[in-house]
Parts: sequence; C-alpha cells; structure tokens
Amino acid sequence: MAVAAHQTTTRHLGAAYPFAAEDGLGDEGVFVGRDLFGGAFVYDPFVLYRSGVLSNPNMVVFGQIGRGKSAFVKTYLWRQSVFGRRAWIVDPKGEYGALARAWGIEPLALRPGGALRLNPLDAPSAEGDPAEVSRRQAELLASVTASTLERPLTPVERTALDLAVADASGRASDPTLPLVVDALLAPSPDAAASVHTDTAQLAAESRHVALELRRLVSGDLQGMFDGPTSKGIDLGGPAVVLDLSAVYHSPALGVLMTCASAWLQAALVGRRSGPVVFVVDEAWAILRSVAVARWLQASWKLSRAWGVANVAVLHRVSDLSSAGAAGSEQVGLSKGLLADSETRVVYAQPPGEASAAAELLGLSSTEEELVVRLGRGVALWKVAGRAFLVRHRLAPAELSLVDTDARMAERAVLSVQA
Ligand SMILES: Nc1ncnc2c1ncn2[C@@H]1O[C@H](COP(=O)(O)OP(=O)(O)OP(=O)(O)O)[C@@H](O)[C@H]1O
Ligand SMILES: [Mg+2]
Repeated sequence: MAVAAHQTTTRHLGAAYPFAAEDGLGDEGVFVGRDLFGGAFVYDPFVLYRSGVLSNPNMVVFGQIGRGKSAFVKTYLWRQSVFGRRAWIVDPKGEYGALARAWGIEPLALRPGGALRLNPLDAPSAEGDPAEVSRRQAELLASVTASTLERPLTPVERTALDLAVADASGRASDPTLPLVVDALLAPSPDAAASVHTDTAQLAAESRHVALELRRLVSGDLQGMFDGPTSKGIDLGGPAVVLDLSAVYHSPALGVLMTCASAWLQAALVGRRSGPVVFVVDEAWAILRSVAVARWLQASWKLSRAWGVANVAVLHRVSDLSSAGAAGSEQVGLSKGLLADSETRVVYAQPPGEASAAAELLGLSSTEEELVVRLGRGVALWKVAGRAFLVRHRLAPAELSLVDTDARMAERAVLSVQA
C-alpha cells in the first residue's frame, strides 16, 4: 500500500525535525567539525555578519568543566589564522602557550611585581575624541572600584573619579593609575570648586574609591597596571596572548581581567588592522560582578564598529545571571549580552541548568533534554536562532595545542613529587 505523500513548508519541517531540516551555514569559513545531522560544519562570523545572517559577530561558549570549550576555541583561532584573522586572547589559566608558540609568539605574562606593565588607561587611538577617551577611562575605573567595593558608587564618588581622571589627564599626556589615585587622595582646589565643595570634603567622600584603586598601585596587586605600558610589546604578529595565570586564584581576577581587556581593546582599536577574534576565556570571572560585566557588555557594543568578533567562554548558562545583584539590572545585563552574541555554542550543562538554559537561550524541549546529555566535544550551536548539533573535530597535529588533560596529569605528578 502506498503511503500518502505529505506536504509541509520548510518552516514547519524545521520545527518538527529541528536538526535534520537544517541546511548548514554555507561553505565559506573555517571547518569546525561534523554536523551530526549533515556533513561538514563550517562557520565564519565575519562572512555571516557581512551577508546579514548574523546581526553581530560575537559568540558565547557555555559548558561544564572539561567538555572541550577551550579546545574548540584554540583550534577555531588556529584555523581562522589561515585566513589572516588575528587572535587577541585573555588567558586566565595560562593554557594558550602551546598555541602561541605554534604562531611563533610568546604569551605576555602578567604577574604582580613582574617585568610587564600594561596601562589600562591607554587611550584607544591618537585621533580619539579626548572627552570620549576620558569618559571611557572613568567608566573603567568606576566599574573596577564598584566591583571590588561590592556596591555601586555613590554620586559623589563617581563625580570625584571623573574629576580625578580629568586632573590626571591634565598633568600627563598618558595618565596612569598612580596619578588618578593621587588626584583622589588629594583633589585639586579647582576640582573641588567645580562641585562647590572643598578639597578635604571631596577627599573624605571619595576615600573608599581611592583606597580600592590604590590596591592596584601599591597593594597586593601592584606592578601590573600601575604605570606606562612596557616598551617593546609586539602587537603585529598573528596573535596576542595575555597570560594571567599568576593571578588566577586572586579574588580580584575579574577586575584584573577587565583591566587587561581594556588595555587590549585600546591597543586593538589604535591599530585598526583587519578582522580580529577577541577571546575572553573563563569570562565567568568577569560576569561574577555586575559592575565589570557592564563594562564588558559596553565594550562588546563598541567593538562591532572595529571588525572584532568577541568570544566569551563560560561554564553554565546561569553564569550570565548569577553576577552580584539580583533583579532587573541583572536580567537586563544577561539579556543584553545574549542579544549581543548571536552565536551560542552550548556544551553539556548540568541537569539543574537545563531549564535556565532553555529559558535564556530559547531552546526547544528537544534541545533542553539534549544539552544535559552531550558528550565531550559535542555542542549544540544556536546561530541566529537556527540549531546545529556539532561534533568538534581535532586534527592529529592540533592535539598538542589543546591537551589540558596532559597538563593536569603533569601537574599532579609534580605535586606528588614535591
Ligand atoms: N573534540 C574533542 N575531541 C577529543 N578530545 C577533546 C575534544 N575537545 C576537547 N578534548 C580534550 O578534552 C580535554 C579538556 O578540554 P578543554 O580544556 O577544552 O575543556 P574546557 O571545556 O575548556 O574545560 P574548563 O572548563 O576546565 O576550561 C583536553 O585535554 C582536550 O584535549
Ligand atoms: Mg577551558
């Protein structure tokens, strides 16, 4: 008996068979792996953005520990570099060294009291609007202090910070953190007069902010962000890797990553040198605090104009909504970051996260069931609302670039021997 033919639209077919009915994202771009319901899976944010498939080139990668997030990111950057795309990476665990050396560069290692200094107040470009530059500098420092104080700044504190940044910029063509801290601890009479108060009152009311920033200048975190940027940093290679592993266990990791990202971003804008993939691995450390998360979001928005595709790596979908404060600001922040990252790569989530993932990412019930069962190296890709199930493929030559298990085993042997 013949089975009656059934006709349906591709839209309805897509809903009934969410993966089987997808027809890929075209063949322009880098190979990621196998689409488990099709052939090769190829992706390029720059191509998809240009052709209007994506309204932004940014990506968020979620996944439990050890599921292959960083391995995917490393090979993705390696494969993108064949097309001349450069990689700028904030590397909190110090695991991009092998990749850096494969590119023929050395990571820039930041540690308290080390040889490398980055000035997070470096201006983005020589021709930048000075008022806009000062506004960004003050915003960065406001985010950093609000994060370490674990509360929003008062209006007086925020104003004092603006005045101190202006004061420091007046005293040096390249203001540094020590100059801003000095200007906060001992405000100028002009600064005080501009807000109808006296210097003692202004200093007293902004003292907490001054002391928090002072930690980066002469406290436990000194020697990384407290002076002019070290000379001779090579930014012209295929990649720039900022290794923050020396402070990975610091409670201030999020703040330090934010300062590092601010410096990287300013250096990047100043160069304007073609498409760049900007990666913040372990970005949950920034999202832990609403204040620095807000800075990250603002920087993503800005970077769209500069040909930058941002990638943030997180553990759980709820990293996006667990930062500091509850309530509407937090919800807005998570939604904003997700709206600004139209490519979401979801590796296995813990069972308790499935419904949060479904809600935040708009997953279907099939996808919701799936994200808790994914094996290592397999991710659900949501690209501009479309879904793909992709097994990331590693070429034998790439294994040494991504093997974090071996590093863990090595460390275990070393600690047993010690
Ligand atoms: N597609 C893959 N095929 C085979 N092995 C893989 C694949 N992806 C990752 N691995 C291996 O799994 C290990 C862990 O991967 P990776 O470091 O990328 O995990 P992660 O998700 O970034 O973990 P963490 O949250 O701890 O940073 C690595 O040693 C890597 O070699
Ligand atoms: Mg990782």
